[in-house]
Amino acid sequence: MNSTRTWITLLIVVCGCSGPSRESIREALLADPDIAAFENRTGFEIPVFAADRGYITLGRPYPESAPDPDLLRAIADLPLDLTNAEELTERAETMFRKAGGIAAAEKGVQSVYWRVVDFEPPGAIGERSGEAVYAELCATCHGDDGFGDGPSADALPFPPANFVVADFNCRSTAYRTLPEDADLIGTITEGLLAAEMPGNVSMTPGELQSLVAHIKQFSRRWLDEVPGPVVPITDPPEIAPELFDEGRYTYMVLGCWQCHGPRGDGEGPMAHLIDEPIRPLKRDQLRCGTTLRILHRTLITGTSSRFMQPVENADLTFIRDSLEDRLMAHREHIDAEAYPMQDSYSETEIAQLRDHIATLPVWRQIDRMPAEEVASAAAHRRWALAAYVMSLAGLAPAE
Ligand code: HEC
Ligand code: HEC
Repeated sequence: MNSTRTWITLLIVVCGCSGPSRESIREALLADPDIAAFENRTGFEIPVFAADRGYITLGRPYPESAPDPDLLRAIADLPLDLTNAEELTERAETMFRKAGGIAAAEKGVQSVYWRVVDFEPPGAIGERSGEAVYAELCATCHGDDGFGDGPSADALPFPPANFVVADFNCRSTAYRTLPEDADLIGTITEGLLAAEMPGNVSMTPGELQSLVAHIKQFSRRWLDEVPGPVVPITDPPEIAPELFDEGRYTYMVLGCWQCHGPRGDGEGPMAHLIDEPIRPLKRDQLRCGTTLRILHRTLITGTSSRFMQPVENADLTFIRDSLEDRLMAHREHIDAEAYPMQDSYSETEIAQLRDHIATLPVWRQIDRMPAEEVASAAAHRRWALAAYVMSLAGLAPAE
């Protein structure tokens, strides 16, 4: 007798006489075009559990606090990449919130709960190995074995980097040392404009790490050495017209023009002695990018070339007494006697430089200055030089 009564009670619950049925909630969900499209696209049908006395439970494929990258890729209509995890999570959560709202609005529903259910996305995209990503996206230029000799290499404006040699230009680390992973990741995700190397963000963080590991296994260097120390970067000064003047004087005094030419076209008087091509310092040729910060970083860390050494604070401490006659600082690879400034710059430009030199402190004054003051003047001059390189390149730092 008792069990019959239980059955009757149950029937009443299920038929909706005392609350909504699972079926009616499913119907309500499907009646919403967004939810219907979402279920259709993802293959995930939001399950409805015991709709008992108005307490109903819906199912979701991952806990709200821990979105699963693979599931997100499967259930959102965008590939998950390094930049959009939040957006994808938000899209998926919007759907679940909507479903919760629809269920809550059904007649007789008091509260909606969620439960995590197993879900195997149809054709789920697992994480690819670094080797697979490399073969898919990089080998065409960098070559199967990392020698920079892929089938597309010849058609490029510059030869692709040779990962077996492992000399990197775009680094935050000291001159001629190995880069940090973050440097390689920056190169890969942002791409290299001049080299026509596309930026690639359609990778998961795990794939990217694995790709970086794959690049490293091409070279012994990564077994013998560790990445160099990260070179500290000072804050950029305000961009004002005087900054460019200071940068131009610095470019003259340090003899940058002997290789790069007074206008940055790469045809300085010494260029023919350099046994590697010097690219014009122009916007479409700059290796690692065209922003003020990147160019400043290049000046701090140098490129991989033995001719392009970092510009140290000592180089940038300009002393009036030592510059007055020579106009140029003493630096490796440049030669004030063999290639005098007068052959490359106009009289007016040199007169302006002389006026500037006349305002500089003499050695006795510098000797008495606090070390921080000397360092901060040098730091300012290096930013000025980077700003001037930008202007040579036809770029405005404000861009
Ligand atoms: C279209 C051809 C092309 C493709 C595809 C390409 N690269 Fe490159 N990459 C280049 C070229 C060219 C350079 C040299 C840039 C230069 O000298 O200005 C380069 C340079 C690099 C560098 C060195 C940057 C430095 O610090 O000097 C890294 C690292 C790199 N590529 C990684 C990759 C990875 C990883 C992939 C695949 C996701 C990839 N590249 C795909 C053409 C390509
Ligand atoms: C002895 C010759 C020489 C001198 C002097 C020299 N450079 Fe370079 N520079 C090179 C070479 C070689 C490269 C690497 C090849 C290239 O990028 O074209 C280079 C690269 C660069 C780059 C990187 C360009 C890029 O693709 O991003 C910048 C910026 C640069 N030099 C600025 C300067 C500045 C500023 C000075 C003066 C402090 C200077 N150079 C002095 C030879 C020189």
